[in-house]
Amino acid sequence: MDNGSPEGLVIDNPQDGLFRVNRRAFTDPHILEWERERVFAQCWLYAGHESEIPTPGDFRARRVAGRPVILVRGTDGQVRVLLNTCSHRGAQVCREKAGTAKTFQCAYHAWTYTNQGELVGVPGEEAYSEAFERRELGLRSAARMESYRGFVFVSFNPASEDLVSYLAGAREYLDLVCDQSEQGMEIISGTQLYSMRANWKLLVENSIDGYHGLPTHKRYFLEFLPDTGVEVQGMRIAGRAKALGHGHAVIENPEVPFGRPVADWIPAWGAAKKAELEATYQKLTDRCGAERAYKIAKVSRNLLIFPNLIINDIMAVTVRTFFPLAPDYMEITAWALAPREESAEDRALRLDNFLTFLGPGGFATPDDVEMLESCQRGYANVREVEWSDISRGMQRKEPLATDELQMQVFWRRWHELLTHSQSAQMQTQRAAAL
Ligand code: FES
Ligand code: FE
Repeated sequence: MDNGSPEGLVIDNPQDGLFRVNRRAFTDPHILEWERERVFAQCWLYAGHESEIPTPGDFRARRVAGRPVILVRGTDGQVRVLLNTCSHRGAQVCREKAGTAKTFQCAYHAWTYTNQGELVGVPGEEAYSEAFERRELGLRSAARMESYRGFVFVSFNPASEDLVSYLAGAREYLDLVCDQSEQGMEIISGTQLYSMRANWKLLVENSIDGYHGLPTHKRYFLEFLPDTGVEVQGMRIAGRAKALGHGHAVIENPEVPFGRPVADWIPAWGAAKKAELEATYQKLTDRCGAERAYKIAKVSRNLLIFPNLIINDIMAVTVRTFFPLAPDYMEITAWALAPREESAEDRALRLDNFLTFLGPGGFATPDDVEMLESCQRGYANVREVEWSDISRGMQRKEPLATDELQMQVFWRRWHELLTHSQSAQMQTQRAAAL
């Protein structure tokens, strides 16, 4: 390994049960450049959910892996992901975060585009020559866009495999999230936006890390939960970690007593709610069968879809994505996902849970921010303390949620893409041709 190459940043030695990541992966600006090119420009990335733009003209302007895009349902009813940059000289044509529009007009020189991306207005068009072709100057789209059960993904790589193949084993877990509803899941309006002075991969690790729960979130487990009537003494977290292919992974925990509006009752919700939730669970069992209903509603999951989508289906469903702006800085966006048919009361419980634990001001996230920023500060010692150890449970036959298999899965794929990506191959070919 040298500074000019990503080779050797990961030590993966299953025989001896050792897995290490070089801390340069969290600090080096070259590595961020390679990630932009070989990870974020190659993989399928979550752009939003169809339920956010239910009617023609609805749009959401946001960033996907740092690029400004417009998630929009055109007048023709089709969902598109348009790149939010004017064909004239580059300004972002959509400056509102959300709304409904037939057209987007660039504020700079007033070129106007339809919500399907066509350029329809150029002030003083007579000043242009015949070579000026309006039809070629519409808003560009991401190279690929596909959706799976309402989750819209884009890829900036025209040669990407199809989305379902890309999702590999993660698809089954997305199904478990979606199947808790008979009528389909929807994003609840309202977005959590926050940032951390930490490398984005620290949040990948943290979002699927069962090991840190009790030490980092003592306040929640030992102070808040007992106040809600939950019996914390002797609580057994018996979760498992699973690799799902293509860098995706999940940790699952059966019967974690946080309260889930879909099935799991906690004493703080009162006796009437208990009967109601039992009825909800019975309905789910009738629809999906006992085994699947149990998996859907009684087993929680933290799902990583490589590289930067996390779905935490614990006491609410949090959909979280994030991207780096610098090696030591990331922006995070999170939304709550819920069954459409949920009662107003259950929706209120869900939103309460959504804020209470994983919300930016909740019991978990501020603790996690503190820890991840602390890791990042620690990496200032990278020259002397070069490696992070991620070996936990490496030789266990059935790794636990408190092991580190799920992170190993991520890092393996990350390392593979950085070292064997198409662009790396192209560069080698180019170099060979010189
Ligand atoms: Fe958009 Fe000029 S940059 S109209
Ligand atoms: Fe945490």
